[in-house]
Amino acid sequence: MSRLIVVSNRVNPPSGKGDESVGGLAMALSAALRAYSGLWFGWSGKTAPEFSGQLSMQIADGVTVATVDLEEADVSEYYNGYANKTLWPLFHYRQDLTAYDRSFNEGYQRVNRRFAETLRPLIEEGDLIWIHDYHLIPLGRELRALGVENRIGFFLHIPWPAHQLVATLPRHKQLVEALFDYDLVGFQTPEYRQAFEEYVLSEVDGAIVDEARLRAFGKTVQVGDFPIGIDAAEFAQMVAGERAERTFGVMAAHTAFRKMIVGVDRLDYSKGLEERFLGFERLLADNPHLRREVLMLQIAPVSREGVDSYQEIRARLDALSGRINGEYADIDWNPVRYVNRNYRRDELAGVYRAAKVGLVTPMRDGMNLVAKEFVAAQDPDDPGVLVLSKFAGAANQMGEALIVNPNSPEEIADALKRALSMGLAERIRRWSALNEGVQRDDVTAWRDAFVKALAGEEEPRKPAEGPHYGEQARPLSVDERLLPDLGAEREADARTFGAAALRDPEARGDPPPLRLSTGTGRGLQVLGRDQGTLARPTRP
Ligand code: ADP
Ligand code: F6P
Repeated sequence: MSRLIVVSNRVNPPSGKGDESVGGLAMALSAALRAYSGLWFGWSGKTAPEFSGQLSMQIADGVTVATVDLEEADVSEYYNGYANKTLWPLFHYRQDLTAYDRSFNEGYQRVNRRFAETLRPLIEEGDLIWIHDYHLIPLGRELRALGVENRIGFFLHIPWPAHQLVATLPRHKQLVEALFDYDLVGFQTPEYRQAFEEYVLSEVDGAIVDEARLRAFGKTVQVGDFPIGIDAAEFAQMVAGERAERTFGVMAAHTAFRKMIVGVDRLDYSKGLEERFLGFERLLADNPHLRREVLMLQIAPVSREGVDSYQEIRARLDALSGRINGEYADIDWNPVRYVNRNYRRDELAGVYRAAKVGLVTPMRDGMNLVAKEFVAAQDPDDPGVLVLSKFAGAANQMGEALIVNPNSPEEIADALKRALSMGLAERIRRWSALNEGVQRDDVTAWRDAFVKALAGEEEPRKPAEGPHYGEQARPLSVDERLLPDLGAEREADARTFGAAALRDPEARGDPPPLRLSTGTGRGLQVLGRDQGTLARPTRP
């Protein structure tokens, strides 16, 4: 039976202790990996004078993490460059922020080739390979060039935009052609999958073979939509935990006699933070009676600081929050509480629970897991209200939220007003429907649906079947024999060794066994990068 290799840019070793970590992809894969005791392999977050392909190994919470260093030029051209100055803004409809530079594309192709070369020796016949997100679109093609014939899937965590936008990208056909080297390409929503189909039909003269297959560049690829979810079971445990309860208590005490509106987002222009602040300001301006009754807590850890547009939005938000507080604050009340640091996940759970309103208003977002976390954290007997942007992928599944256009401060203000005064019966009715979906369409359902489709066990979902996967997805069986037998000592151990040694663990002494491929279960292996690369403020 097959082994599963999962590949992503960012590596975020699961800790199982509710530790902090930011980014939807990392959260989801972390959860998926933990269940499989798999291996996560990618960029260490460090740079070396020259790329060597040396792997660092670490075992965390039953997951093996293997990382590789990149060169300075790789980081600036691939991660800060093509990934985050070109593809990210373009795919989030910010053509004004999109920078095209030939060196970015060269760095992007180079790093994908390096990842492929590092990964190649580890791939065994029959392995399933699952590659994640916009950083790694060409990785499948690079693996094919190295002779890999295994089934390879790709999942895009961000939106696929309208074809007219994609067509503005120099060498866009080269980028899209690379997607046809995969067996399966997955999107977050039917809308993004359809936008991809439209590109294929209108820009490269491709064809729809059937509901789940596209043909172009002389190749056929399977496509499907696979909405990502949260680890709902883990979240339920965290909410009930001591630290979440303590945080809830602290927040409740600090917001006594007031209603708290909460936002939790990476500090990113796609998250609509300025527009959100303006919407809240409008609420205060139009409703003097609410002024001392509400406060907005915005948690926004800094992100991608090597990219100018991220530094600029940070400066604008500092100014905007200061302006609103300057205008409306009183000696015993600040309307906006704006913090730029990371929190443990169980602390975040307590914060969500203490809020009366969750304000999730991205201008564009592949999915947005914060919306799902907010719902999962609520008290069933007295739940808060979710206000959600119509441009979050989550809106496709979460119609019982108050859906707003984030471009309109008036609409945000109206929705906030409605949420703050909503009666208990309506809150419970809306929350129950939302929570049912969050519990059902969780990260396990997402993972299992994708893996089954990749393995050819199940067709990707047809458009007519609606947005939910949960009912048809069954957990994959995991054969205990395939999980590395690691003692506590080894779990805490972190080692560094090369790819050759990883292929032949016995040759270098006592590394953890990585040969997971015999028997009936699956291991999980990821290529990505370390969260430490970004200088984020962390808790003392
Ligand atoms: P994205 O992937 O674009 O960052 P998502 O909403 O899908 O957006 O995922 C963000 C993830 O990062 C969520 O799991 C959220 O809990 C986590 N996160 C966001 N802000 C913080 C923070 N300040 N501290 C810890 N985790 C955070
Ligand atoms: O979930 C979307 C995403 O872009 C992931 O690919 C990424 O890991 C996450 O947001 C956070 O971004 P970064 O890894 O650049 O901090």
